[in-house]
Amino acid sequence: MTKIIVVAIVLLLVAGGAAVALRMRAGRDTSATLPVTAKAPGRVAIVYYSQSKVRNTALIAQWIKKHMGGDLIEIEAVEPYPEPYTLTLAAAEKERRSGQKRQIKPVPSLAAYDTVFLGSPIWYGSYAFPVEQFLKSNPLAGKIVVPFSTHGGGGAPRYERDVRAACPGAKVLAGFTARGSNQVERRLKVGVTVHHTEDDVVRWLNGLFGK
Ligand SMILES: Cc1cc2nc3c(=O)[nH]c(=O)nc-3n(C[C@H](O)[C@H](O)[C@H](O)COP(=O)(O)O)c2cc1C
Repeated sequence: MTKIIVVAIVLLLVAGGAAVALRMRAGRDTSATLPVTAKAPGRVAIVYYSQSKVRNTALIAQWIKKHMGGDLIEIEAVEPYPEPYTLTLAAAEKERRSGQKRQIKPVPSLAAYDTVFLGSPIWYGSYAFPVEQFLKSNPLAGKIVVPFSTHGGGGAPRYERDVRAACPGAKVLAGFTARGSNQVERRLKVGVTVHHTEDDVVRWLNGLFGK
């Protein structure tokens, strides 16, 4: 009997601790606390594609804009990918196999920009197909290109290398990648909205452009 009571008390303590930890994480302030010393050269554009409902890549794009200024330019598919995730995957897989990637809407001219941040969800280890379409018709030669991405746990193994290959004549800087969150994590507000904080982004920007 005493054993059962001890086990029950231990279980209650563990559950209570977990609940407190979750509440602490949920209540964590995600705003940047680090000073921003970075200033990107010239006029800045933050070009990005974000497909999923939780819009992980869009969030990183907004953080970059908050700290670097510049213009947000969203790449959009003419016909958006279907939801939920299983249908998105099926549609993307069909395009990957056939090589027939869907069209994107035209984006404004980038001629006046000196620094172009380029954001994508990671698809098949590299940029999403709409970003591939963007790169085909928008040469970035002569510009500073800064890749960023979000992924589902597999990292961004080929993204930066592929951006480099697709942007001859551009100066491609070291990128940033964050693990994206899913809808459950967003609903519970566990951790930050992606698995990195705004401070991580500031640290990266300061490393690239800080004094
Ligand atoms: C077609 C497709 C392919 C994907 N391939 C990968 C992958 O190779 N590695 C990975 O870690 N995540 C992969 N993901 C997950 C996304 O990169 C991840 O959910 C991302 O944060 C979504 O960003 P978004 O909300 O801006 O669309 C894939 C998702 C889709 C729809």
